[in-house]
Amino acid sequence: MRPLEGQTALVTGANSGIGAAIAIALGAAGAKVGVNYHSHREPAEEVVRQIAAAGSTAVALQADVSREDQVRKMFEAFLAEYGTLDILVNNAGIQKDAAFIDLTLKQWQAVIDVNLTGGFLCAREAVKESLRRGVVPERSRAAGKIIFISSVHERILWAGHANYAASKGGVMVLMKTMAQELAPQKIRVNSIAPGAIKTAINKEVWSDPQGAAAMCKLIPYGRIGETSDIAPVAVWLASDNSDYITGTTIFVDGGMILYPGFREGG
Ligand code: BGC
Repeated sequence: MRPLEGQTALVTGANSGIGAAIAIALGAAGAKVGVNYHSHREPAEEVVRQIAAAGSTAVALQADVSREDQVRKMFEAFLAEYGTLDILVNNAGIQKDAAFIDLTLKQWQAVIDVNLTGGFLCAREAVKESLRRGVVPERSRAAGKIIFISSVHERILWAGHANYAASKGGVMVLMKTMAQELAPQKIRVNSIAPGAIKTAINKEVWSDPQGAAAMCKLIPYGRIGETSDIAPVAVWLASDNSDYITGTTIFVDGGMILYPGFREGG
């Protein structure tokens, strides 16, 4: 019933959206959870309370994942609290959209720093701890499980979002390289690639009826996703039920990556 009982997990950007839903679901699955946030402590504390209410335990941890010193401190604090780390969910991500010609170096750098470098910095700390501890069969068959929250845009092109698409393409290659390199050490590395999921990042589009209708047209399954569509996939990827899966991206997108394949009658 609680496939992650006795394990510990750190979720970055867990104060809202997909990260919050994943943190709560990992807690409900039995894991002790580090709820990372960048600047909004209160919503992170609310996630901590929800995890406690569901019978597990959690701690809010502030860090800018793009800063090496802050990431190190966050991992030190996490390990001081829970002893070791089994699961890392690299979820923290931002979007700063602009037409290519107007894209500033600042916008480019900010998105690459958080979405790609942040994932690298956190993953490196997680891998260090997995290698230190090794496999402990009572905890899990793997020495560590790392899950990147990527995007359909690691695969489908996205005009007007060159920085974001480049960051997610980078995440894909980083994830696969890590999976290949670390499989002998029993560290599993995978990605979830959400499609259009209702969160703050794309609120401008889905909160406007015309924007929502245009979005739905791109989704063969005909609805915009919810964070609850993503969270159970993360729990499963973190659990031993997926022990033979590494180096894979699971698209959770209502078929968005199938668009614009030809479909008669619609
Ligand atoms: C982006 C969203 C977008 C979705 C589908 C996600 O990666 O962050 O803004 O709605 O992809 O295009």
